[in-house]
Amino acid sequence: MTEKTVNLPIYLDYQATTPLDERVLKAMMPFLTEKFGNPHSVEHRFGWEAEAAVDVARKQVADLIGADEKEVIFTSGATESNNMAIKGIAFANYPQKNHVITVKSEHECVLASARSMEKMGFVVSYLDIDKDGLINLDQLEAMMTDKTILVSVMAVNNEIGVIQELKAIGRICHKHGVIFHTDAAQAVGKIPLDVREMHIDVMSISGHKIYGPKGVGALYLKKGTGIIPLFDGGGQEMGLRSGTLSPALCVGLGSACAISQMDMDKDFKHISTLSAALLSKIREGLNSAFLNGSEDMRYPGNLNLTFRGVKSDLLIADLKDVAISTGSACSSAKHKPSYVLAALGLDKSEIEASVRIGIGRMTTEDDINYTADYIIKTVQNLL
Ligand SMILES: Cc1ncc(COP(=O)(O)O)c(C=O)c1O
Repeated sequence: MTEKTVNLPIYLDYQATTPLDERVLKAMMPFLTEKFGNPHSVEHRFGWEAEAAVDVARKQVADLIGADEKEVIFTSGATESNNMAIKGIAFANYPQKNHVITVKSEHECVLASARSMEKMGFVVSYLDIDKDGLINLDQLEAMMTDKTILVSVMAVNNEIGVIQELKAIGRICHKHGVIFHTDAAQAVGKIPLDVREMHIDVMSISGHKIYGPKGVGALYLKKGTGIIPLFDGGGQEMGLRSGTLSPALCVGLGSACAISQMDMDKDFKHISTLSAALLSKIREGLNSAFLNGSEDMRYPGNLNLTFRGVKSDLLIADLKDVAISTGSACSSAKHKPSYVLAALGLDKSEIEASVRIGIGRMTTEDDINYTADYIIKTVQNLL
């Protein structure tokens, strides 16, 4: 593979963000230009037109996850949705109940929300993960008490791509009358999710992980779930999240969801093929490389690999034409070693030798062949 046959630089950081699908941009454009109405203006057609577009988008989000459109609240992204789910539901159940359960490998915004709940007097239990990255369902059940309000377990891990057993978790939660929240930012639109079938009560969604725009997301909240709003104001979003909605962003998220639903099988096959090819080439070329997290219970578009004996920051710096990362965009900004890999049982030198490679809808076979050769050569030079 020569530089001439691939478009450089190659983007392989699809968990940090995804490119905007051009079909999504096309759907959004009118709402950034001539269709500028406020969707909450009820007295004229500019408002009605914007409101109608937001309603369509809400239905597109709901359809992708098997929800009712009245159960979808637009937010600014998964960070806000996670804060809203954890804090809002915990506050609504306090003081009768005061206990929340989550996992050591959750996204920083879930863990930071949990820590701030602890400062406010709530009790939080943190589940371990095993060497595959999965939680233990018996440990989960044993942690539940009559004070437990909520369990928050992410669907697909952003650093290692492992898929948790959502349906079984949901079943245990409901057996004990506990609300089940899942941060599905990395799962929605990529693997089939059905909130009813999987016993999910609350789900966080992000636009920019599914080829939609940044700055928009959603919270699925099962009808009847008590929640205290974090934003007070004009009472938009059924009084649960005040603030004027951006029709362009809502349309972008809705359209990204509809496209992901339509293309899910195609995307999954494409990404699985490329992922398997990259993994087998790297394993053939570098016998010290290993994959982090379960090989079976995973979303194939996320390969977290350890190259023993190599410092990942040097590797990433040397791979000038290929954009990969050490893990979560937030943690990498802080240059902290990955707590997810630590929870998986990796030691410090293994954590420092690990990189995340994200494959997505726009990745090509040439990108993968070029990257595999480039990584093998660069790692060999660094050893
Ligand atoms: C699993 C997970 N949760 C939450 C977030 C935060 O999403 P957003 O950027 O939409 O706030 C991310 C993004 O990095 C993520 O990967």
